[in-house]
Parts: sequence; structure tokens; C-alpha cells
Amino acid sequence: MTAFKFFQNQWTPVINNFLEKKLAEEVEDKKISQIMAYSVMAGGKRLRPLLFLATLNSLGKEITDTEIRIACGIELIHTYSLIHDDLPAMDNDDYRRGKLTSHKKWGEAEAILAGDALLPLGIEWIAQASDSAKLVKVSTEAVGPNGMVGGQYLDIDSTNNASVSNDEQYINKMEWLKTGCLIKASVEMAAIYADATQIEMVKLIDFAKGFGRAYQIYDDLVDVVESSEQAGKATHKDKEEGKNNTLTLLGIEKSRSELVSLIKQTKQNLSGLNAEVLEGFLDLYQKVL
Ligand code: IPE
Ligand code: IPE
Ligand code: MG
Ligand code: MG
Ligand code: MG
Repeated sequence: MTAFKFFQNQWTPVINNFLEKKLAEEVEDKKISQIMAYSVMAGGKRLRPLLFLATLNSLGKEITDTEIRIACGIELIHTYSLIHDDLPAMDNDDYRRGKLTSHKKWGEAEAILAGDALLPLGIEWIAQASDSAKLVKVSTEAVGPNGMVGGQYLDIDSTNNASVSNDEQYINKMEWLKTGCLIKASVEMAAIYADATQIEMVKLIDFAKGFGRAYQIYDDLVDVVESSEQAGKATHKDKEEGKNNTLTLLGIEKSRSELVSLIKQTKQNLSGLNAEVLEGFLDLYQKVL
């Protein structure tokens, strides 16, 4: 078993148990708690919390409940972004994580509110860390107008706008903001939390930038390569919905080679670090290559 698999098998259940238990305990109204938990517990890959924990691990930091809470805070924020991304006014999707989307299951107002509730709860969990000001700054900047929401706006604003389909600068910026930023923040937060040295910080952030950029190229490929059963969400849909992304820019084969070269570069950033687990995250991309 690879170091990554071992780490994933060890920590995914810990993350899942924490999320389930704390959502039930800390959200007073049982109905909204149930609606929030429905999407959170639907079976995501937990990539961002695992990245946070794996970065801590690479820096020799012990993982206790305090660190799990921060990791899970990131997952709550990510899940909010998915619930809102699927809404009829946005991507209008019926399935997510292999189940009906929140608005399909509970209604549109309920889904909007569940997302609205997950965002501040996620920030609250991050803010419970000692010396949390920097972590809150990094995470909120990553999902605000100059981060994830800014990228989602560029996505919406360019949907069905053919003039953007070859605009490399626009597409790279949109994909970086909507997906790369929060992924980078997950690593950066851990580096800050574990007091990484300047050299470690630079290497880890360069790794996270490459990994985050690669992740949306991968997700765009998932849409054309995987079945909806494999992906747990509708696929073969971006083109028909008029989405502009790396595929409209480069096509499948060039997107794949772009991904391969990003993986190679990104791996190099880890040299000199104790980062066997982090390196294993890059294997996730193999299934679309
Ligand atoms: C999907 O994220 C949306 C993007 C930002 C590309 P993930 O691929 O991490 O989805 P889950 O969390 O595993 O469901
Ligand atoms: C979404 O990108 C990125 C988010 C910030 C949620 P997509 O719209 O491509 O994500 P999927 O394919 O629906 O998961
Ligand atoms: Mg979208
Ligand atoms: Mg979508
Ligand atoms: Mg997608």
C-alpha cells in the first residue's frame, strides 16, 4: 500500500466521524442540521482536509482533534460551494456525490440556506484553532470575491459566451480562482499552523499552486472521460451547457499533456521535503490520463 493510501485510509474515517458528530451536536435546529449533513456526508473524497492533514504530517506536526476541526472546517466551506454550484441558477445539476443534489432533495430555499449555514460554520471551526487569525484570513480570502466566488462569477459570466472559449488568460484565471485557491489555502494553512520554515513554505505553496491548478483541468477531463456513475455527478454536460474551460481551450489530448506536465513540475516542488504522502495525491490524476 502506498503512503498516500495508508494515510487516506487512516484519516478519512476520522474526518467523516468528526463531521457527522459535530454537525449533529453543534447545529441546534435538527432540520437544518439534517439538510447540511445530507450533503456533507454524501461521500466526498475529502481532498482538502486530507491535504491539510498531509501537509501537517510532512512538517512533523501531531494530528489531534484540534487539527481535525480545522480540516473539517475547510470541508464544510467546500461543501457549501458545491451546494450552491449545483443550484438551478448556476449549473443546474441533479446529482452530486452520487446522490440527489441538495435542492432536488430538500428544495431550493433549503439548499441555499444549508450552503449559507455551512460557510460561517466552517470559518467558525477554523477560528477555534489557537492563533487562528492568519488561518481565517487565508481561508476567507481563498473563497471570497478574489478567490472561489470570484472564479464562480467568471464561470457564470462566460457561460454561453463563445468569445471566451479561446481566451487562455480568462480561462486560466477562472479555473485557478474557482478551484485552485481553496486547494492552495488548505496547504498554506497547514504550513502556517505548523510553523514551516521559509524554505518549506515556498516549496509547499508552489506544490499547492500546481496541484490546485491541475485539479480543475482534471475535473474538466472527468466531465468528458467518466460516466456519471463513476463521477457521482452528471458528466458530458459542460460543453452542452456552454461552459468554457481548459477543454474548450486545448481539447482532450492537449489538456492531458498539460496535466502531465503540471504533475511533473508539481512533484519537483516537493524535493527535499518529507512529503511521500503529499506526492501520492498526484496519483489521483492517473484515472483521466
Ligand atoms: C469538485 O470537487 C468541484 C471542484 C472544485 C472541482 P471535488 O472533486 O473535490 O468533489 P468531492 O468533494 O470529492 O465531492
Ligand atoms: C465548480 O466547478 C467549482 C466550485 C467552486 C464548486 P464545476 O462546476 O466544474 O464543478 P463540478 O463539476 O460541478 O463538480
Ligand atoms: Mg460550476
Ligand atoms: Mg458544477
Ligand atoms: Mg466540473
